[in-house]
Amino acid sequence: MWSTNARFINGELEIAGCSATALAEEFGTPLFVIDEEDFALRTRAWKSALENNFGAHSGTVYYAAKAFISIEVAKWLKAIGVGIDVCSGGELSVALAAGFPADRIELHGNNKSVAEITQAIEAGVGTIVADSLIELDRISQIATRAGVTQKVLLRITPGVEAHTHEFISTAHEDVKFGFSIASGAAWNAIVKARSLTGITLKGIHCHIGSQIFVPEGFELAAKKLIELLAKYRSEFNEELPELDMGGGYGIAYLSNEVTFSPDEAMENLARVVKAQCTEFGLAIPRVSIEPGRAIVGPTTCTLYEVGTTKEVRLDGEKVRNYISVDGGMSDNIRPALYGAHYSVALANRTPSPRTRSSRIVGKHCESGDILISEVEFAEDVQPGDLLAMPATGAYGRSMASNYNHLPRPAVVAVKDGTARVILRRETSTDLLALDVDEAPRSMKRGK
Ligand code: LLP
Repeated sequence: MWSTNARFINGELEIAGCSATALAEEFGTPLFVIDEEDFALRTRAWKSALENNFGAHSGTVYYAAKAFISIEVAKWLKAIGVGIDVCSGGELSVALAAGFPADRIELHGNNKSVAEITQAIEAGVGTIVADSLIELDRISQIATRAGVTQKVLLRITPGVEAHTHEFISTAHEDVKFGFSIASGAAWNAIVKARSLTGITLKGIHCHIGSQIFVPEGFELAAKKLIELLAKYRSEFNEELPELDMGGGYGIAYLSNEVTFSPDEAMENLARVVKAQCTEFGLAIPRVSIEPGRAIVGPTTCTLYEVGTTKEVRLDGEKVRNYISVDGGMSDNIRPALYGAHYSVALANRTPSPRTRSSRIVGKHCESGDILISEVEFAEDVQPGDLLAMPATGAYGRSMASNYNHLPRPAVVAVKDGTARVILRRETSTDLLALDVDEAPRSMKRGK
């Protein structure tokens, strides 16, 4: 759950040699603290797992920017030599602002606008993953007009959906993403992509879900995609050279959760891909992946300050301690949105060994603003104490909102006992700057 360089020393949390108390005093709370070295270690682990298991057939690790991106993080990724998966013009702009090499950027999304496709093609992004027939036409027109040939993959819906510990295989796919194999949409898209100017179809892609703990879903999806590659070869007498298996690898949010290592994940995938290609007599394609959560999730913890505690009497004799912190659903929507579970620790001192039933809640005007619904927590927790929630690096800051006009927290990178802000805290001035006072303008038809 915790990043590699996090430890408790005399009850106080230290991350990469930085004391949690000092971080909170210097930068305020709530605060996202990202362990820079841990980020690099995890990114490298996925890169070498892909390379070691696929050898000459390894494609690219595209870090999924939606999990968390900033200019500084994009610079780390650039230095390590992986790619970035972006799914909006905004994420693309961050990567480009970091000087990230465009040929290692892959553009995703089920509704890319003309402006976003134009921005991507003008920047020279390596790959666009197309998600609809309309979009294929758009990419073709924009690339043709720009006088370039854009490399394209097709997002395929393989009929495998995976959630955490189970996956389901289904023939009808009621989802907005991709072209389904079962309905024939995937084949139609392949035929269309081959017919368009300005596009070169290089392969197929799938992403079967997120926070997945079992390899079977990935394996079945790989089999289905390779079947499609085999059909392509028998129809057109040539082979598509690329297969992108997306992201979705799960991480531990609770101490009893165990997930697979990058090496185990890639070993399983390589075994299935190689066996399936051998069965069909296909050359092994270049395989890429797009982990987001599995890289950034465990690198970061959130520091909160306790504001109030309150005993609430439940049915009968049971009492629950409500511990309110200075953030909540605006910096971590996952518990409210998905029922996600997190862990928590007292970060500034040794807690009393006596615990009681507690609930960690935020400061928003909503009863559902719960970060941890039920936890046995130190009974001596006080206003002013610091709490740390580990594994908040993925889909925390990136899904943060300004609900109740709370400014979004800063992200601080820690390394070798030093800390620096990589994404500053919003201020109330930032938020007030959006309010404008302008004269009404006519919007009548034909004005
Ligand atoms: N590639 C594609 C095409 C994706 O759609 C996603 C995530 C990823 C890669 C990265 O998946 P990861 O390795 O991070 O699981 N907000 C949700 C997760 C949504 C994931 C959407 N797509 C959450 O907080 O759990």
